[in-house]
Amino acid sequence: MQNIDGKAVAKAVKEQVKAECEALKEKGVVPGLAVILVGDDPASQVYVRNKERACEECGFYSEKYALPADTTQAELNALVDRLNADERISGILCQLPLPKHLNDKEVINRIDPMKDVDAFHPVNVGAIMIGDYHFLPCTPAGIMELIRSTGVDITGKKAVVMGRSNIVGKPMAMLLLHADATVEIIHSKTKDDAAITRTADILVVAIGKAKHVTADMVKGGAVVIDVGMNRDENDKLCGDVDYENVCEKCSYITPVPGGVGPMTIAMLMRNTLTAAKLQHGING
Ligand code: GUN
Repeated sequence: MQNIDGKAVAKAVKEQVKAECEALKEKGVVPGLAVILVGDDPASQVYVRNKERACEECGFYSEKYALPADTTQAELNALVDRLNADERISGILCQLPLPKHLNDKEVINRIDPMKDVDAFHPVNVGAIMIGDYHFLPCTPAGIMELIRSTGVDITGKKAVVMGRSNIVGKPMAMLLLHADATVEIIHSKTKDDAAITRTADILVVAIGKAKHVTADMVKGGAVVIDVGMNRDENDKLCGDVDYENVCEKCSYITPVPGGVGPMTIAMLMRNTLTAAKLQHGING
């Protein structure tokens, strides 16, 4: 078994983005990311801080809007409108989840699709479905990089995705399909999960249940990708996969932390760079 080192792969992506950013700056273009955070969810605060740090590392311009929990929909919409019109801002990210009185969908739909570095806007989701896209959602795109980093050929392999969220499961299945895997999706109403997961050469788990995937659910030699970020009974960070036992059985596995997490932010940086190029008509 080998760990897939998300930190190392993410570092390589960010270094490439940084080099491209320097080349863009010579053409007078500076990629800029605006991050909106509403309320005081501690996990979201950590994510947003990491995104700001990554912007600095890559040489981007960045703005952070930390809005109070009682921000109204009209105020949030007005901020999105202003950022859509701001030439310094290439990408806009509104950290989810939003407080309950705010409508996620309304905000997502309001962000200019060309600045939608999360790739959550229906225009971008549709583009991914067709396979003709500018932006890929950060977590699934990061996972594809991690799988590729192993050198394992995806073509014709059986891939099983556990979870069907709009952010991870659904786009993940589509990207694996585009890479010529044979894909099956498991969700909360699926009968006999284990019989399906045991067929997986590539298993991606994004269900938000601590240590749910046990060794008996995994095929020997599988590539196992763990998107989970949970706390175990001792309040220690853990994934959706029972790492200690599963790692003995698979060929490659992502640890938690240090697997998928760092990749998500690296791919956000890549999307922001792409957005800056798109807005300035720069190809490649
Ligand atoms: N909350 C958890 N993951 C994400 C993400 O990828 N993007 C945004 N905007 N919010 C999130």
